[in-house]
Amino acid sequence: MKLIVGTQEEVIKKAAQRYVKLLNEKPEAVLGLATGSTPLGLYAELVKLCAEGKISFAKCTTFNLDEYIGLDGTHDQSYRYFMNKNLFEKVDIRMEATHVPSGAVKSDEEAEQYDAEIKAAGGIDLQLLGLGVNGHIGFNEPLTPFTSMTHIVKLTDSTREANKRFFASIDEVPTHAYTMGVRDIMQAQRVLMVASGANKAQAIKDAFFGPVTPQVPASILQLHGDVIVIADEAAMSKF
Ligand code: GLP
Repeated sequence: MKLIVGTQEEVIKKAAQRYVKLLNEKPEAVLGLATGSTPLGLYAELVKLCAEGKISFAKCTTFNLDEYIGLDGTHDQSYRYFMNKNLFEKVDIRMEATHVPSGAVKSDEEAEQYDAEIKAAGGIDLQLLGLGVNGHIGFNEPLTPFTSMTHIVKLTDSTREANKRFFASIDEVPTHAYTMGVRDIMQAQRVLMVASGANKAQAIKDAFFGPVTPQVPASILQLHGDVIVIADEAAMSKF
């Protein structure tokens, strides 16, 4: 694992450079994308680089990590909406090459189909990850089997609590979601985790400087051969 620590601005610039490098070397790359507050700065930087002609998404394919069940893509808190507004509509990507599980339906077939589409695309070249305060990746909550593929999860109280800031009240936070599994994430050629803020410090410590355990889903990344963690100083403050 390679760890890069810097200011928030440096974190964004360094993460963006990974995309410039990858998409210049392999324009048809398959990108695994993430939502949450943390990637917002990175997406804004990618939009800027695309407008400047330094990066193009025209040939790439994307798969998002997760989606709330019960919100369709037009709901402003759905991850499909988040991706459309913060990245897809602002760059030169083909909309049909962007994939987010459909939160409008709740079925195991939807999850299986998602994995089949990732496989058909040739697998993920670079998987972007944020980090949950409880060490989750995607919506793989503590104790999710490391062997899991895309599946339906019941969200923990701590995750619903952490995400309620985006909703009018906690009652509106969905109780279930689709997430790529831990194994999907481990099968990506490269993983790029971004973490910022003091509320991630304990999760960073547990994930990368403690034992590998399903209790901390992100800890499995210690066994991945090509992981870069880019964290700001606040997120590294417990190490
Ligand atoms: C959400 C998402 C994760 C994300 C995490 C952290 O629950 N499902 O994919 O990484 O929370 O989000 P944030 O960056 O807003 O702290």
